[in-house]
Amino acid sequence: MIDETLRNVPVGVVGCGYWGPKLVRNLQSLPGADLRMVADLDADRLAHVRGLYPAVRTTTSYDDLLASPVEAVVVATPVATHYDMARRALLHDKHVLVEKPLTNESSTAQALVDLARERNRVLMVGHTFEYNPAVDYLKDYIASGKLGKVYYINCTRVNLGIFQKDINVIWDLAPHDVSILLYLLGLKPETVSARGAAYVQPEIEDVAYVTLNFPNGVMADVRVSWLDPCKIRRITVVGSKKMIVYDDVEPTEKIKIYDKGVDAPPYSDTMEQFRLSYRYGDITTPAIPGSEPLAVETAHFVACCREGATPRSNGQVGWQVVKILEGAQHSLDNAGAAQEITW
Ligand SMILES: NC(=O)c1ccc[n+]([C@@H]2O[C@H](COP(=O)([O-])OP(=O)(O)OC[C@H]3O[C@@H](n4cnc5c(N)ncnc54)[C@H](O)[C@@H]3O)[C@@H](O)[C@H]2O)c1
Repeated sequence: MIDETLRNVPVGVVGCGYWGPKLVRNLQSLPGADLRMVADLDADRLAHVRGLYPAVRTTTSYDDLLASPVEAVVVATPVATHYDMARRALLHDKHVLVEKPLTNESSTAQALVDLARERNRVLMVGHTFEYNPAVDYLKDYIASGKLGKVYYINCTRVNLGIFQKDINVIWDLAPHDVSILLYLLGLKPETVSARGAAYVQPEIEDVAYVTLNFPNGVMADVRVSWLDPCKIRRITVVGSKKMIVYDDVEPTEKIKIYDKGVDAPPYSDTMEQFRLSYRYGDITTPAIPGSEPLAVETAHFVACCREGATPRSNGQVGWQVVKILEGAQHSLDNAGAAQEITW
């Protein structure tokens, strides 16, 4: 009997603009993966890839990649093309890793989930932060109960650029935070509201504020912007016992745990007796493994293809993220009115 765990999975990548080459680099050096072919409409981008990896075949036609014996396809093309690219790959019985967000409509995201199930293929979404060791640390810390009850979460993801021409900042940057929130909390939001403004390009919002209301009163705010002087990628989780700040821009000390909080007296008869006590304890900085999230993500994809396992960021999770982004878009289009999300 062939030992499946020893087999290299033949893989192809479509799209090698800004993000694709990072996937190519990881797949190229990944034990268990055999990167066979890269497709892009742009011959210059293919020449760039060949310059880096002369052994990799390149083509300007996605059909060539689909007709080749690759078993898995990684889609890193613009968001509007994701549905068609992934659908065609699944119809050719390939496993698929689609960059975030899965698609630009929940109906097409659902169609991909259904198709992958029918064809018995792996469908995974590139929610890179779900493979980030610091995010894993946060998740474990919350699950351990040491943070207490989660009160609220604030996510800030801002920088100057990269301005996109085909999608607004919510569809570009918020998939990261939304996927992190779903992963951390294991809950789905009940409502979403969003406000935003288009300052630089007409009708393409470059700044947005998204609020998600989860069950049990947990509130999360996501601020995303391409128009900010500073690069900030920070998540603050405030709990009843501790508070945590995850700063992804920090090179080493990405997580700080604050033993800070405020306690109300268990009972009081008069306002005089009702005194809040503030706690200013230690700040601790745990050691976080330095593995590259994209290396973890691509390794997970290839392992799932080989073993027929369901990925962590599977198609269903991708659909949930798209549902939330769609709700945020409706809210944005309706002057920030809260949108109920029906699951
Ligand atoms: N996970 C992350 O952190 C992360 C970061 C950046 C971008 N992304 C995602 O990666 C995807 C690509 O983004 P990007 O910034 O690299 O875009 P990009 O525009 O720089 O590159 C897209 C590439 O796809 C090619 N392409 C378009 N249509 C094609 C087709 N029909 N056949 C073959 N090639 C085609 C283009 O020629 C281009 O080279 C998006 O989904 C984006 O959201 C993910």
